[in-house]
Amino acid sequence: MKILITGGAGFIGSNLCERLLNLGHEVLCMDNFYTGSKANIEKFLGNTKFEVVRHDISEPFNIEADFIINLACPASVPYYQKDPLKTMKDNVYGIFNVMENVRRLNIPVLHTSTSEVYGSPSVHPQPETYNGNVNPTSIRSCYDEGKRAAETIMFDYHRQYGADIRVVRVFNTYGPNMLEDDGRVVSNFIVQALKGEDLTVYGDGKQTRSFCYISDLIDGIILFIDNKNDFTGPVNLGNNYEFTIIDFAKLVISLVGSKSKIKSVELPKDDPIRRNPDLTLAKNILGYNPKINIEEGLKKTIEYFERVI
Ligand SMILES: NC(=O)c1ccc[n+]([C@@H]2O[C@H](COP(=O)([O-])OP(=O)(O)OC[C@H]3O[C@@H](n4cnc5c(N)ncnc54)[C@H](O)[C@@H]3O)[C@@H](O)[C@H]2O)c1
Repeated sequence: MKILITGGAGFIGSNLCERLLNLGHEVLCMDNFYTGSKANIEKFLGNTKFEVVRHDISEPFNIEADFIINLACPASVPYYQKDPLKTMKDNVYGIFNVMENVRRLNIPVLHTSTSEVYGSPSVHPQPETYNGNVNPTSIRSCYDEGKRAAETIMFDYHRQYGADIRVVRVFNTYGPNMLEDDGRVVSNFIVQALKGEDLTVYGDGKQTRSFCYISDLIDGIILFIDNKNDFTGPVNLGNNYEFTIIDFAKLVISLVGSKSKIKSVELPKDDPIRRNPDLTLAKNILGYNPKINIEEGLKKTIEYFERVI
């Protein structure tokens, strides 16, 4: 298949380009390089099955492909908050432009939504049937509500035009090719520990997160691409092993072998207290089962950051 990956030069996108090329697919990577990097895709440039085009999906485009995977949107808080109106356009104008190609070509599309659609959840762990608790006016809403609107638009294309849609709600994922300075907790802690700086924990660090290694997320995405059951999702993908942030910081320090200390800083506004995916649907429908434990995934990620910083 010829697969368009929007946001293909980013963290998830570049790992997905690699997996799909290894599976023998042709990959067209479309990116505006806002948070993506040329270094992430450099090694594919000699591959005749790989093409790259610089384009912003909030502007219309016409491509030829057999399948579209839409990842294009900055995922880290400082980047998506830098220009919140642009983030909303990436999500809303972007998904309209993607879906117009899907409709014209009559091809399937897989879209990466996010656990942020659950907001600050009152149900724990979060199943797909939980409709979330999102503040529409917060500084996080450009991303959270943008992603919710993108899901709505996809389901309306499905109901109105019969579009073949697949919606994944991605939970915290980490691994090689994350940006060093992108402000996400895993990259923050590893880079701080490698540099011997204090690890900055928001609040008392009792808030929880679950962390999924990139190869597990990609396994889930491939299972969903290959699924033949007219299953639209939304489906949660991630890892449901839950950590407090403070324990996670201690683990990173010990795996890096660092002398760093932990420093508490003010909890950002509307930061969710608990986050953990209910993976029952992903297991039952896709046969999804994340395999990489946190120590193994962190060691690979630490090796990556040791090389790049
Ligand atoms: N990594 C996670 O933990 C996580 C969690 C939930 C959801 N997601 C979603 O997965 C997708 C990929 O996330 P990621 O972690 O790889 O983030 P990332 O920031 O590394 O990658 C996003 C990519 O999209 C590109 N991009 C941004 N806006 C664009 C636009 N308007 N047009 C074209 N390209 C654009 C960026 O340059 C970058 O290459 C995002 O949609 C994100 O919301 C990721």
